[in-house]
Amino acid sequence: MNETTKSIRSARFAIRAKTQVEPQIAVILGSGLGPLADKVEVDAILPYSEIPGIAQSTVHGHAGRLIVGSLAGKDVIFMQGRLHYYEGHPMSDVIFPTRVMHALGAKTLIVTNAAGGLNPDFTPGDLMLITDHINMMGNNALIGPNDESLGPRFPDMTDTYTPELRQLVLQRADEEGIALQQGVYAAWSGPTFETPAERRFLRLIGGDAVGMSTVPEATAARHMGMSVLGFSVITNVATGLADQPADDHLEVLAVAEVAGRRLARLLDRVIASMP
Ligand code: HPA
Repeated sequence: MNETTKSIRSARFAIRAKTQVEPQIAVILGSGLGPLADKVEVDAILPYSEIPGIAQSTVHGHAGRLIVGSLAGKDVIFMQGRLHYYEGHPMSDVIFPTRVMHALGAKTLIVTNAAGGLNPDFTPGDLMLITDHINMMGNNALIGPNDESLGPRFPDMTDTYTPELRQLVLQRADEEGIALQQGVYAAWSGPTFETPAERRFLRLIGGDAVGMSTVPEATAARHMGMSVLGFSVITNVATGLADQPADDHLEVLAVAEVAGRRLARLLDRVIASMP
């Protein structure tokens, strides 16, 4: 057994000591989206400090705890406060909680984020269902020795964002009257927001939204054979065109919080109807 596998087991052991719930679905909450966990019937709340191997989140708007319980009749685990690469965490730390949630039983990962809209048709407050991603972080979450017990050395990344689940999301959104954009998420390491020229470049290569997260966790989930769904809350115009306003993290959080309520309603319906 290698070091990663040992660490995953220790973390799982510490969580199992607090809750018997075996979550089927794992949800990672992005910036300003913490309140999405409000509807969870809580069995246990575990600050990251109580789980061996999980680093502390240092970003304003990220609580830093796991919430285990049930939502819409399903056993779930929510990660309230994710770890970002730009905080200085090695990629192996960024994806460690995803690995632990999988080890607890999660077969599906739902990953959420706040993102800038590269697509000129997007407006702050829009929700985007992620159809695919482009990794521009300058690193890959799986670099390093591969543990074959977790997944293959060269994972296939076709259909990383599970088509059947995306279809389900589109149906539920339609029924609920929730407008959804769809598109490609481009991941940038941050912590700087992108320059206008970088944003025009990201648009040119096929990005619809840009953010500083999600791709590492989605990659780790794909590596382990999990189903994946991803949602971006578009919090700001990021077209890199002349009319683009300056970026402000507090504005990002404020828009995410309001639009996050719509995303919470959609997630509740989606989770209820998941296989
Ligand atoms: N760029 C990167 N990350 C972000 C943005 C953005 O414009 N908005 C919210 N997160």
